[in-house]
Amino acid sequence: MSFDRNLKIAPSILAADFANFGAEIEAVEAQGADWIHVDVMDGHFVPNLTFGPPLVKAIRKHIKTVMDVHLMIAPVDPYIDAFADAGADILTAHVEAGPHIHRTLQAIRGAGMKPGVALNPGTPAGAIAEVLDLVDLVCVMTVNPGFGGQKYIDMTAKVRELRSMIGDRPVHIEIDGGMDPKTAPAMWEAGADVLVAGSAVFKGGSVADPAPYGANIKAIRTACDTLV
Ligand code: DX5
Ligand code: ZN
Repeated sequence: MSFDRNLKIAPSILAADFANFGAEIEAVEAQGADWIHVDVMDGHFVPNLTFGPPLVKAIRKHIKTVMDVHLMIAPVDPYIDAFADAGADILTAHVEAGPHIHRTLQAIRGAGMKPGVALNPGTPAGAIAEVLDLVDLVCVMTVNPGFGGQKYIDMTAKVRELRSMIGDRPVHIEIDGGMDPKTAPAMWEAGADVLVAGSAVFKGGSVADPAPYGANIKAIRTACDTLV
């Protein structure tokens, strides 16, 4: 997994058929997904529950691209080894999830994964200034985490600020929440390179009829491309 700032679309399987993750992932990758975004929720850090390491491990073999695991859990540290064993490429923890984000990010790297740090909409860019040398990815939430299909909250100023703080470091900026062909271009223009999209990618398609997944991904890509 080499670093670049090309536009990457990362479909969130939160919007896929939960009874058919393996086939959904294979379908969306065949339709042009760059990464697969996996949302882990604990019913405590966020008001929703999804799944844990055993499910993440089970879907690993269906992912040919990059398994991008977004932890919306607190605490994080007791579960780091389990997600490493599950095969996560990127493991993202929220800066709000505990008092020791620095230790958490070091532990993620130590377990052999690429560390990411996520910021809720209410958290300023400056909250992660001291850990930028420890991460491969900064995830800017453009919804309050917990659910798919929510309305986009504009974070353009924060993304610009982070892009400038990151400078030449090989650190991705990922945007998560409410990304669609209308909302994505401003984020790409502000300096993001990974766009997570759940409902906007999976709408209208299925494993039996996956072409809409490809059209939906392409619509986001085209909207960003036409901007430049
Ligand atoms: C929100 C999750 C997102 C979500 C995005 O808590 O972290 O990844 O699935 O879904 P959409 O694209 O539908 O907003
Ligand atoms: Zn997410």
